[in-house]
Amino acid sequence: MDMKPGMSETLKQIEEKHAALGQDAGSYLKGFLYSKPLAYWDYVQLETLLSLQRPRTDYPDEPIFIMYHQVTELLLKLIIHELQQVVDLECPHPAFFSTKIERVNRYAGILTQSFAVMREGMDYDQYNEFRLTLAPASGLQSMQFRVIEIMCTDIVHLLNHRVKGKLDESAGMDKLFEELYWKDAGLDRKTGKKTQTLQLFEEKYETGFKKLAGEMKENNLLKKFLTIESKSEDYEKLKSALRAFDHTYNVEWPLSHLKTAEHYLNSKGVMKGATGGSEWQKYLHPSYQRRIFFPQLWTKEELENWGKF
Ligand code: HEM
Repeated sequence: MDMKPGMSETLKQIEEKHAALGQDAGSYLKGFLYSKPLAYWDYVQLETLLSLQRPRTDYPDEPIFIMYHQVTELLLKLIIHELQQVVDLECPHPAFFSTKIERVNRYAGILTQSFAVMREGMDYDQYNEFRLTLAPASGLQSMQFRVIEIMCTDIVHLLNHRVKGKLDESAGMDKLFEELYWKDAGLDRKTGKKTQTLQLFEEKYETGFKKLAGEMKENNLLKKFLTIESKSEDYEKLKSALRAFDHTYNVEWPLSHLKTAEHYLNSKGVMKGATGGSEWQKYLHPSYQRRIFFPQLWTKEELENWGKF
């Protein structure tokens, strides 16, 4: 039988691969005769994807709000996909590590640059009416946003500013979790009362977050970075990629987000409450949150001015 060059070698490799698995390559090859061609719409699950928008009102701008959140969640998934490959390695090579963070930076950059879709791209009055149907749901409940934080840094760097630097890991995971910075969005620390937004979020995800935090204790991105020799090739490249990520994710994105909240919730002389019920003007500012994944990579002055540059 005439075969294209290289074909018999390919067939041999297929046979060997299946033999190693104890399977008959012949029946797999025969399957090619019967299988349907792959179509784009099946491969990317297009119809499922396009069926995932369920507005709660008839306002034409509500689907924009839903779809932009979904786009964001997909980009967060892409970020997690890259981070996972770094945290899974015992000793990631600096060149590999920085390639992954450069990818993450591309995604984080898209998130920040595209936020004008929210700020400029919806009708003010429509937004302020359809948002009334959304409480107590809030972006605060974005599970992937929290997963990224836990994968990037030590839990002690995610504490609120009142206890940061005063508590260490010996306090135990339960205590540290009560002091996470983002609980300030939904917890009155004087009365101990939590908003429904926060309660529901904790009920659904807190156990999983604590498990992940345990796994990441010695494996998060910061820990991986600290194992890398400062003299090694690509160290500086990696350092600047990580600084860029810290700044984009923890300063630039929060500022774009806050500016948008100000536009819809505190302009035209009316100050409105958030769907999640936080003291949002204070809480959302990066210099209040002081969320910094890699504090070791910033100077004292830069740390003091976090959120202002
Ligand atoms: C018109 C657009 C938006 C407005 C007015 C807005 C407003 C707010 C407000 C006021 C909060 C504080 C928590 C609360 O009390 O609800 C919040 C939190 C949050 N929102 Fe948005 N948001 C908008 C769009 C988005 C989008 C598109 C995302 C993408 C997923 C998002 C993700 C988040 C996250 C992750 C938090 C928690 C932030 C943190 O803990 O640092 N928001 N948002």
